[in-house]
Amino acid sequence: MIDEAGIRSAILAGAGAVVVKSTNESEAAKDQLKRAEYVALGADWEPVTWGAQTPREATLVSRSGLTPLPFEAWLEQNLRMDRLAREHDCLLVPSLILSDLETATEMARKIAQAGFRALEFNIGTPYASQAAKGAVSTELLPERVGAIAAAMTAAISIPVWIKVTGQSERVPDLAAAAFDAGAESVVMAGRLLGLVPDLETQAPLLGTSCGIGGYWNLPLTCHWLATSRARLGPDRSLIGINGAQNGRDVARMLLAGASAVGLASAVMMRGYGAISQSVAELDAYCQAKDMSAAALVGVAADRRKAFAQMPLLDDHWRQFIPPTL
Ligand SMILES: Cc1cc2nc3c(=O)[nH]c(=O)nc-3n(C[C@H](O)[C@H](O)[C@H](O)COP(=O)(O)O)c2cc1C
Repeated sequence: MIDEAGIRSAILAGAGAVVVKSTNESEAAKDQLKRAEYVALGADWEPVTWGAQTPREATLVSRSGLTPLPFEAWLEQNLRMDRLAREHDCLLVPSLILSDLETATEMARKIAQAGFRALEFNIGTPYASQAAKGAVSTELLPERVGAIAAAMTAAISIPVWIKVTGQSERVPDLAAAAFDAGAESVVMAGRLLGLVPDLETQAPLLGTSCGIGGYWNLPLTCHWLATSRARLGPDRSLIGINGAQNGRDVARMLLAGASAVGLASAVMMRGYGAISQSVAELDAYCQAKDMSAAALVGVAADRRKAFAQMPLLDDHWRQFIPPTL
């Protein structure tokens, strides 16, 4: 959420936490917002209407940027919103995106001194290879994630949530490095980069490779959650994001091992009602299963088996081949 009115709406809609639009010191990252573009695509990769009617199967393609506000104004806006959040049993979370590490830790110190209760540090945006140099970061090496997270957790004493990239086959390793360096939570995972050729213009849609996301990303996120839980044990706090659109998706990510779940594009496209509706849907699911949300965490992850443990089936695969000519 960039504007105060949007943050307020998310709080009032019943979000347990609101992560505000990220900032950093890079002018290029601010400039990127002025050039930002967003489009929703249907299953045939053609644009569909943006808004409440956007179908669930739409893919969101975007080139976004960071907050237009100068750091001090961003901080003041967030402080006002933190006061509102506290009145509504909600956690307001400032978010930094890595550009220069020393500057990020200086900003983090100011955030902690201002009294915020947690900081999200995104070191895994999809855009680093596409954006102006230094605007944002996509950290792919566990050693780098560990060093960056260690610098941040040494700088401040409030909980640090490290948001890691999903453009890696090593998400559990990235998470392990962040936790070893003192992170309280790991947010997994950032969106992917994609390119959609436009059949009319024969140019890439929105001009270049963009961040892409959609409902189809949920299984990937759940896989990272489950494999991270297997690697790290059940006591680490994983935050699932990327592909959840409603309360039942939230339940799916909890079952995969998340102890909290974020929604971004669903709210952007469908409005703040998506938050209250998701809370109600999660509540209904918990009631139907007679389980608390906390009891859901990791249930499916802990039931994962190896392929070789699956029962032997008699030529079952033949039911899945097409009719022969
Ligand atoms: C238009 C847009 C802007 C975003 N801006 C930020 C940002 O400033 N900071 C950040 O950490 N993530 C940002 N994200 C990523 C989202 O927080 C989230 O990780 C991603 O959209 C996947 O979740 P979703 O499937 O619920 O959309 C942005 C995503 C979109 C679509």
